[in-house]
Amino acid sequence: MSSPRAKPHFYLTTPLYYTNGLPHIGHTYSTIVADVIRRYKRMRGFDVVMTTGADEHGVNVERSAKKEGKTPEEFSTAIVAQWKQLWDELGIAGDEFIRTTDENHHRTVQWLFRRCRENGYIEKGHYTGQYCVHDNAYVVDAGPGDPCPDCGRPTETVTEENYFFKLSQFQQRLLDFYAANPEFIRPETRRNEVLKFVEGGLKDLSITRTSIRWGIPVPGEAPHVFYVWFDALIGYLSAVGGPEYAERGLWPADLHLVGKEIIRFHAVYWPAFLMAADLPVPKQVWAHGWLLFDSEKMSKSRGNVVRPRPIVKVLGIEPLRYFLLREIVFGQDGSFSYDALVSRYNSDLANGLGNLASRTLTMIEKYFGGEIPKPAPGRGGEGYAPSTADFAGEALAQISNLYGRLSFSLALEQIWSQVAALDKYLTVEKPWTLAERPEDRAHLATVLYTAAEGLRIVSAMAHPVLPEATAKIWKQLGLAEPLGRVQLDDLAWGQLRPGTRIGKFEALFPRVEKLETVERIEAMAEEQNQAAQAAAAGAASTSTTAPAPAGPAKITIEDFAKVELRVGQIKSAELVPGANKLLQLQVDIGDEVRQIVAGIATVYKPESLIGRKVVVVTNLQPRKLRGVESNGMIVAASAGPDGSPVLAGFLEDVPVGAKLK
Ligand code: MSP
Repeated sequence: MSSPRAKPHFYLTTPLYYTNGLPHIGHTYSTIVADVIRRYKRMRGFDVVMTTGADEHGVNVERSAKKEGKTPEEFSTAIVAQWKQLWDELGIAGDEFIRTTDENHHRTVQWLFRRCRENGYIEKGHYTGQYCVHDNAYVVDAGPGDPCPDCGRPTETVTEENYFFKLSQFQQRLLDFYAANPEFIRPETRRNEVLKFVEGGLKDLSITRTSIRWGIPVPGEAPHVFYVWFDALIGYLSAVGGPEYAERGLWPADLHLVGKEIIRFHAVYWPAFLMAADLPVPKQVWAHGWLLFDSEKMSKSRGNVVRPRPIVKVLGIEPLRYFLLREIVFGQDGSFSYDALVSRYNSDLANGLGNLASRTLTMIEKYFGGEIPKPAPGRGGEGYAPSTADFAGEALAQISNLYGRLSFSLALEQIWSQVAALDKYLTVEKPWTLAERPEDRAHLATVLYTAAEGLRIVSAMAHPVLPEATAKIWKQLGLAEPLGRVQLDDLAWGQLRPGTRIGKFEALFPRVEKLETVERIEAMAEEQNQAAQAAAAGAASTSTTAPAPAGPAKITIEDFAKVELRVGQIKSAELVPGANKLLQLQVDIGDEVRQIVAGIATVYKPESLIGRKVVVVTNLQPRKLRGVESNGMIVAASAGPDGSPVLAGFLEDVPVGAKLK
């Protein structure tokens, strides 16, 4: 089929995220990576479309909605608004946002189902199996009571009359397809995993449900609704035209970006559904690893879910983008920690790129009145670092290639080795000394031209990852062309024109104090966490009544009773290692001694707290603060200077463990 588009197109997708919760750093990671690829491909001449979206159906959303006393539609719509708002705030919104509740999506799912049925790949049957409600999937080979191998939660025995997709008929076709398209599944470890799974034999797949209501109706087959994965995968096609996909010329997708836990759905089921419907199959599925926090997968029950907003409020989105792409080898699991994030910020952005830009531009302003100097013919200078200028040749192509293979950390490593080389070049050449001797004027011009030209090329190369900062550098170099439109293949050494007036200098990444910054992020994260919990509690109690009045929502006495408050006595207190504000306390709450981390160290000396009776919230989800588990919260008023904490206490003597009502 010929494409109606002039430029070559590139269609990529993120997973469509479930709407039973709000985005955390893991979802943000996938979406940031997609955005980096989008920007890189645009700089390689592609007309790029990126789709992200919301997977709204299924039992989980239905249950979460019920908990808040909302209909699934209401609940999901409110969550979708928050996802979209966050992506907008972070500058990573998709070009398309597909909701699986969209009318056009329903039509596409029903159309694709009909095509599979007409081609003889759908049949009715009964299915009894162990179902994992959390993962929305039957667990093959599990017996009653067995846990789900993916999430460890107990499975439920479910019997239903279902429509089945004859997946078993696709084993050979899929294996042939993988053999003919060795790059279809990336990275290689995942490809091997999928091959093994398919070689082991495929069972037919139940693709409808009668046990739930919140789904897309199977045409003419009430009460059947589609299984959430049959529904959601088709979203990638609905987003770019559905049955009329040929009009937009974007299908098949070039790249589905997914987390490793959903590779099987994308690399086995999805191509099989498309083959059954005689539709083109996507070109590649790339599975990245997980972000681990303190070496554990993030989860609400562990209390270690990291949200992006506090980071972005304190440091900005670009340091987060840089950190995620530089620190994590794409395709492998990687650790996330605030400490590592801030260290990278200081070393690579503040001291690295930011400092290079500042040195170079300030000296051009000072020694050449803000005009790019004219270099002496040829390349030269005593401390001339050939690698710097030659970077424009070989290394450029190499780095571009690394991006193309999604080896982001290597690409950034190489770019930053050029930043370091340029920095060293300036240190060796000492332009500030050259500036003192008129006979060195020509040499000074060469040195600063080299630095500015290096900075220009480095900025262009880093643009997909640091779009704002590099565009600012570009502008400060006096370049008019928007950096996003520059083609990487056209970059070559020497294009910066002498005489160009540089723009006003603006510091890009001011250095930050590490401890203080980490604590600011953590404090903001804690605040947001509590606000979210309060909002959820408020929503649950007010959702079916009149609109909430201004100010904190009124709660019922039952809501209040959900919070357990007890008298506790502090047994020991010490500073959390590496923290300024946090104390690690052991608190006796009557029937047990709890470890609680409290942000009160700036006001209370640890030794002054021993024996003190305090009010403890005892039934909060555990949370980790700077790696230390906290099992409760000490109640304090924000009443001291600058809102510093003042501990709540009692005038009379009270027994330890007594409940507050
Ligand atoms: N709704 C399905 C996807 C359907 S696609 C047709 C789903 N949604 S999800 O909300 O659970 O999002 C899962 C995706 O979020 C992962 O595949 C991954 O892209 C991202 N991540 C969620 N947690 C993550 C980490 N801890 N680390 C990295 N990415 C993670 O599955």
